[in-house]
Amino acid sequence: MRFVGQLATGLSRLQCLRFVGSRAGYSSTAREQNNGRSVIVTGSGRGIGKGIALRLAADGYDVCVNDISANKAACDEVVRDIQGMGRNACTAIADVSKRDEVKQMVQTSVENLGPLSTLIANAGVVQIKPILELTEEDFDSVFAVNVLGVHNCFAEAASQMIRQGNCQPDRPGKLIAAASVVSFKPFERLPAYSISKWAVRGMAQVYAMDLAKHHITVNSYAPGIIGTPMWEKIDAGIGKGLPKGEVFNRSVDADIALKRPGYPSDVAKLVSFLASSDSDYITGQTQLVDGGMVFT
Ligand SMILES: NC(=O)c1ccc[n+]([C@@H]2O[C@H](COP(=O)([O-])OP(=O)(O)OC[C@H]3O[C@@H](n4cnc5c(N)ncnc54)[C@H](O)[C@@H]3O)[C@@H](O)[C@H]2O)c1
Repeated sequence: MRFVGQLATGLSRLQCLRFVGSRAGYSSTAREQNNGRSVIVTGSGRGIGKGIALRLAADGYDVCVNDISANKAACDEVVRDIQGMGRNACTAIADVSKRDEVKQMVQTSVENLGPLSTLIANAGVVQIKPILELTEEDFDSVFAVNVLGVHNCFAEAASQMIRQGNCQPDRPGKLIAAASVVSFKPFERLPAYSISKWAVRGMAQVYAMDLAKHHITVNSYAPGIIGTPMWEKIDAGIGKGLPKGEVFNRSVDADIALKRPGYPSDVAKLVSFLASSDSDYITGQTQLVDGGMVFT
C-alpha cells in the first residue's frame, strides 16, 4: 500500500487512473454463460456433491459425476437427472485416493464432455476417534481421501487444462475443493478429519499461487453442519446412547446463529458462484457456508 501511495504522489491522479484503466480491460459485471463448459464433481453420487452436480447443470455446465464403485447406481441416477435437464453428463467411477484412477476419470470426462473447465474435489470421509487413540492407519485412511485425493484431482485436472491451452485471464480454469468449518475451528471429536480439512485450506493457497500463471484459480468451500449421510455417521458416532439425530439437533441449536441446519443446496449456491465468471478475481480463498458458526 505504501508503494501505491508513493506512486500516487509522483503521478497525477488522472495519470494513475489511466494507468490502472489500461490493465483493467477484462472485467464485465454480467455473469457469463456456462453453456459449453464441463465440470467434474467428485463424490457426487449423494449428499453435497449431488447437490453441486445438479446446481451446476442448472447453471449450464455439462457434468461428469464421480464416486466409488459401490455408488455407481446412484451416480447413474444423477446422470439421468442431469440429462433430463437438457445437459450432457457421464459417470466416471474412481477412488480419488488412487492417482491412476483419477487420471482415467479426467480422460473419461474429456472424451464424453469435451475440454475440462472446472473440477470440484468434493469427495471426503469423516472419522470419529479421540486424538490420542489415532493409529497410523487411522490417519492414513482419512488423509488418503481428504488430502491426497484433493491433490490427485487438482494435479490431474490442472495438467489437463494446461495441455488444452484454453484457460485465459478473462476465462480462467477453476479448481474448487471441499474444506469445512473445521478448517477454521476444529471439532475436538473429529481430530484427523479437522487436521485434514485444515490441509485442504492450505492446499488451495499453494495451488492458487502456482497455477495463477496458467490462468487457473483455486478456492475451497467450508460447509458447517449440513444434513447428509456424513452427518448421520457423526451423529451415530458421537451420540452413542442418545436418540438418533440428538447430537445433530443440539449442535444446530447451540452452534448456528441462523438456527437451522444447512442443506446441500446452500453449499451448491456458493459453489455455483465459485464455478462462475463472477469469481474470476478470487483465488486462494476458503469461504465458509455455515449459517453463522465461525466468524472470520
Ligand atoms: N455434511 C457436512 O456437514 C459437511 C461439513 C463440512 C464439510 N463437508 C465436506 O463436504 C464433502 C461432501 O460431504 P457430504 O456430507 O456430502 O458427505 P457424504 O458422505 O454424504 O458424501 C460423500 C461422497 O463422497 C464419496 N467418496 C468417499 N470416498 C471417496 C473416494 N475415495 N473417491 C470418490 N468418492 C468418494 C462417498 O461415496 C459419498 O458419495 C466432504 O468432503 C465433506 O468432508 C461436509
